[in-house]
Amino acid sequence: MKKKIAVFASGFGSNLQAIIDYIGRGSLNGEIALVFSNNKGAYALERAKKHKIQTVCMNTKDFASRKEFDLKIAEILKSEKIDLIVLAGYMLLLSPELVAIFENKIMNIHPALLPSFKGTHSIKDAYKYGVKVTGVTVHFVDKDLDRGPIILQEPVYIDNDDSMESLEEKIHRVEHEIYPKAVEYFCDDRLKIVGRKVKLISD
Ligand code: GAR
Repeated sequence: MKKKIAVFASGFGSNLQAIIDYIGRGSLNGEIALVFSNNKGAYALERAKKHKIQTVCMNTKDFASRKEFDLKIAEILKSEKIDLIVLAGYMLLLSPELVAIFENKIMNIHPALLPSFKGTHSIKDAYKYGVKVTGVTVHFVDKDLDRGPIILQEPVYIDNDDSMESLEEKIHRVEHEIYPKAVEYFCDDRLKIVGRKVKLISD
């Protein structure tokens, strides 16, 4: 049976688009059942609507606490029988309660080679630091920021003539390649978590 996916996005949604396009090409054993955003102006919501995907948008300000906000999300996801949460530029930290409810069923994409350059300005941080190699990480989400078991990593080289903008482009290109792949592996039950390691079961 196809896995039901919820994509969480706060902004532009290019990773959401990459997954939509990948599914459109036909090989993924999953479907995006809903797109969730905490930001009603997120372009990701427009992308979802264009593809007739259900959208849900909630503002943290309408809830007494982040825990209540996340428990409401969990309730919606359960009623939709969601198998996998895909964080794609979702800029809120998940509460431990939501992470526990969907243990090992949440993945995130991060624009650096974790554990380097955690946080929200990773591309800029890596560029300014002067590293020669940065990259992209897809990982499962646990209760700690940018720390869960790593599913896929891909290096991106920073050349002498790279600007911040050209580096951003390179990173995004790699993101759009590897995130759909990680989602596909999950949907095919090929990811096995052993301690901190994620093993890819061969098909
Ligand atoms: C992506 O580069 C993603 O790696 C990053 O936000 C961008 C969202 O782009 N996520 C983080 O920095 C999480 N810490 P998108 O909205 O075009 O997919």
